Amino acid sequence: MSQALLLLASLLFSSNVAHCDFSPTLISDMAKILMDNYCSPEKLAGMEEAIDAASDNTEILSISDPASLASVLTDGVKQTIFDSRVQVTYEPDYKPVKPPAMPDIPPEQLAEMIKGTVKAEVLDGNIGYLKIQHIIGEEMAQKVGPVLLEYIWDKILPSSAMILDFRSAITGELSGIPYIVSYYTDPEPLIHIDSVYDRTSDVTIELWSMPTLLGKRYGTSKPLIILTSKNTLGIAEDVAYCLKNLKRATIVGENTAGGSIKINKIKVGDTDFYVTVPVAKSINPITGKSWEVNGVAPDVEVAAEDALDAAIAIIKLRAEIPGLVQAAAELVADNYAFPSIGDFVAEKLRAVAASGEYNLIPTKKELEAKLSADLLKLSGDKCLKATSNIPALSPKNLTPEMFLELIKVSFHTDVFENNIGYLRFDMFGDFEHVAKIIAEHVWNKVVDTDALIIDLRNNLGGSTSSIAGFCSYFFDEGKQIVLDHVYDRPSNTTRDLLTLTQLTGRRFGSKKSVLVLTSGVTAGAAEEFVFIMKRLGRAMIIGETTHGGCHPPEPFSVGESGIFLSIPISHSDTAQGPSWEGAGIAPHIPVPADAALDTAKSILNKHFSGQK
Ligand SMILES: *[C@@H]1O[C@H](CO)[C@@H](O)[C@H](O)[C@H]1NC(C)=O
Repeated sequence: MSQALLLLASLLFSSNVAHCDFSPTLISDMAKILMDNYCSPEKLAGMEEAIDAASDNTEILSISDPASLASVLTDGVKQTIFDSRVQVTYEPDYKPVKPPAMPDIPPEQLAEMIKGTVKAEVLDGNIGYLKIQHIIGEEMAQKVGPVLLEYIWDKILPSSAMILDFRSAITGELSGIPYIVSYYTDPEPLIHIDSVYDRTSDVTIELWSMPTLLGKRYGTSKPLIILTSKNTLGIAEDVAYCLKNLKRATIVGENTAGGSIKINKIKVGDTDFYVTVPVAKSINPITGKSWEVNGVAPDVEVAAEDALDAAIAIIKLRAEIPGLVQAAAELVADNYAFPSIGDFVAEKLRAVAASGEYNLIPTKKELEAKLSADLLKLSGDKCLKATSNIPALSPKNLTPEMFLELIKVSFHTDVFENNIGYLRFDMFGDFEHVAKIIAEHVWNKVVDTDALIIDLRNNLGGSTSSIAGFCSYFFDEGKQIVLDHVYDRPSNTTRDLLTLTQLTGRRFGSKKSVLVLTSGVTAGAAEEFVFIMKRLGRAMIIGETTHGGCHPPEPFSVGESGIFLSIPISHSDTAQGPSWEGAGIAPHIPVPADAALDTAKSILNKHFSGQK
């Protein structure tokens, strides 16, 4: 508060207005209202002294225009307790709205009033739509309950999903909260909905769901969406926050206003100044926090005017999700490279869906993320995932000239001291139909060297179709060697990967040294090459353990959802224990990837200088 006074004082000295005297106790009267009513008394520490100081400071009161004074005081309070809900206003014409005394209004008139503030209809797709602008309190609810049931609730109760529209709900009564929440929860167990600390009485009351209600509950099994706007205020925010944190409703729209569970406008003495002050605060038992001040954050953020369409889309998606999860489970069971893991993942995925974990998913993007996370968790395989990107097809119809350019930039060759060859490429492809070009422009530059360093440190994998051919260059003609046994899940067959008898260009042969450089990035097809060359004792591996990827996965469409599963469908020979997939391949000589080339060169240089 002393900060506020400084601010006020500085405003005062820079203003040049005629003096107009307000009551010298105005500030201390206002401060006392705050002290006695503000919902978070702990934030008012130090106010006492500030009030004393303020009472002596008659200069503040010399601001002539009462509205300006009110706004200056509002700013002062805001800077002291950081709560924009507290307002000082000057309103000579203000008349407090007295709630009409219930017993005086005939039920028919009440029914009309309610029909005026509540709108109920059934939208396409059997979606119940209920628009509420004012949340009625207990007394009113009891009085008009039968009318509400007949004209509103029974109409939308049989729907298969419901949209509660709170976008223009700006008033309401605290006692109405348990009613609304109870209609969307089960009769038992009873749920602790909210704790409300009331400053005036210094008592915290707990709001609980109600065991019995007039009419039928909507229950917990059907989707519930709450629409919000930046204007949604007070009691409606409480209901939205509560149902959101109970995981009963999905909030769609804008962040709400961040009002107060109970806010009073208190007249300052016999002046025309008023202090609007939150007199109670809500503490949600699930989060231990409140929606007050900051508002309720939507689960799906869209402009308020688009919220209804977004909600309808969410409800449609929710109806499709069980079928989509089932389809995903089947795809994994039928196609995943490791059949027993595939069966396990499929079964568990169905169980996860049955447990309700997919029920609140609001968007395809979140469905995709959840599927991916579950597939990873259940399989332990980072290659098995959901994606919305159809993997790019390898360029098939490029002209020979374009291929030549592509190959020139894709392969790097060099010949170092001691006639040591160097070959780097960062992707495996379907090289068969460009073998001539590669032989001529790449391979011929290194084939006659005395040793070859193959740099796969940045090789991310790609197609495995050229692996057998590429390996063949490092073995001799005349004898076919088994490189790997590759199991293919969709056909449930294992095929031998053999060296080729016919090659384009010359062989490097089986005698000269081959060193392969690896890093943690080296993945997929590149790992298959490293795996084969290491297991057959044909190359020395230098660098880091490889990525631990997989044979190239295939995309499978999950129904018509636009979501794909990326599923590895084949795996390397595991007869001699686990292959490289998931685990990577350890190098013979472990060095940081950065140092691998120098290490390789120095090994070879030492070797060749020893020969001289
Ligand atoms: C795969 O084939 C084997 C026989 O080669 C058979 O025993 C097995 O059940 C088949 N697995 C699947 C998943 O079809």
